[in-house]
Amino acid sequence: MYLNENFLLKDKNVSTAGDTMNMPRHRWYYYKEGFSPNLVEKAIEMLSLSENDLIVDPFNGSGTVTLTSANNCIPSIGIEVNPFTAFIAETKVKSSTISDFDRYSNYILDKVKKKKESPLLKFSTFTEFSGRTKWLFNSEVLNSYNGGYTNLKNIKNKDIQSIIKLALIRTIMENSNVRRDGKCLRYRSNWKELNYNNETFIKSLENRLNIIREDIINDNKLISPDILCGDSRKILSANRLNEKFSLCITSPPYLNTFDYTDIYRPELFLGGFVNSMEDLYKLRLKTIRSHIQAKWERPIINDFGTMYATSMSEILNRQDKLMHKNIPLMIQAYFEDMLNILSVLRKNAKSDAQLWLVVSTSAYAGVEIPVDMIIGELGNKVGWYLKEIGVLRYIRKRKTRYSKDINNLRESVVIFSAEK
Ligand SMILES: C[S@@+](CC[C@H](N)C(=O)[O-])C[C@H]1O[C@@H](n2cnc3c(N)ncnc32)[C@H](O)[C@@H]1O
Repeated sequence: MYLNENFLLKDKNVSTAGDTMNMPRHRWYYYKEGFSPNLVEKAIEMLSLSENDLIVDPFNGSGTVTLTSANNCIPSIGIEVNPFTAFIAETKVKSSTISDFDRYSNYILDKVKKKKESPLLKFSTFTEFSGRTKWLFNSEVLNSYNGGYTNLKNIKNKDIQSIIKLALIRTIMENSNVRRDGKCLRYRSNWKELNYNNETFIKSLENRLNIIREDIINDNKLISPDILCGDSRKILSANRLNEKFSLCITSPPYLNTFDYTDIYRPELFLGGFVNSMEDLYKLRLKTIRSHIQAKWERPIINDFGTMYATSMSEILNRQDKLMHKNIPLMIQAYFEDMLNILSVLRKNAKSDAQLWLVVSTSAYAGVEIPVDMIIGELGNKVGWYLKEIGVLRYIRKRKTRYSKDINNLRESVVIFSAEK
């Protein structure tokens, strides 16, 4: 009954990050799983928020919410568990004088030209060692990156250090033999012919630094957000926000077995955010239980309303059609996490606050789980009032042998208010 098929943002591409590729500062790192700044702008406008308000995003990703808030001079707090992604969010709001930026850019470009042997040369599938047929980076690319990376420490200004580090990481990914495709990294069809090397790396880095330079020159004054790196379930329940929010706008991981720590593994290692597979696994354990890549704590609660109960019983009846035996447990754990987040957010909300959650339905064993409506029911349970579920778009679903009959998934924004 709350599902609004005529929501004002329907089919306006606000649940995707495509437009960030051309937007100042947002374009410093393209984060495929992000949403559009226009969604945040719309919420700010609808709630008439000002510099006296606080905006919060507990799944801040690349910082779309915190950068948009900063552009509107509204204080904000973003929480993000993945240290690489939190670094993107932190860095996109940093500035510098142009003379310092130029000086250090030239210094790092010179070091990149000279290259330096990378300690990651023999790591995993990073380069072409010992009879491998495929590798993520040609060794010259990795050594070019490392020439710049090892000399970042000589940049005394920490803000410029971060900005150039982000540019280097973006550049190496542009010069990598793979590209992101859904849940995996896929080899470019012509990666061998592309033959990425020191020259291509330098060209991409120059281009990247020019884009950043342009954005710094055209800057308005930004209000710095607070970016907290950690598990939002813990941070919010420990009351670390200090102040209550007027708007929480966010997109939690979808219930789609997508593991952000896996897909961003190259960047995590390249930037020194994790240093071993053990570190990576520890990080994975702190993420929302929306995938099956970790041995999670088992969920305890199993009462998430009638719609959840119906979907779960249909799925359990078709267990033999599931792609993995742990899917039912993952679904249960996901809603336990969502219930927890909704509840801690309610405690941190001002009396007239709103909560906007962008989510998508999911399909397992031919059963579509109405994640938006289940979350609507969960919010009501912990003191939120469901205003509406605004449909943003229907996404065509790739046919898989596990959910043959489901062709579309629904992406929507679940909007709650703290008072009736
Ligand atoms: C859909 S993305 C958010 C993208 C963001 N709206 C943007 O525009 O960049 C969800 C994010 O939640 C993060 N995440 C997963 N588990 C988390 C946790 N326990 N605490 C905080 N962040 C978490 C993921 O690393 C991912 O960056």
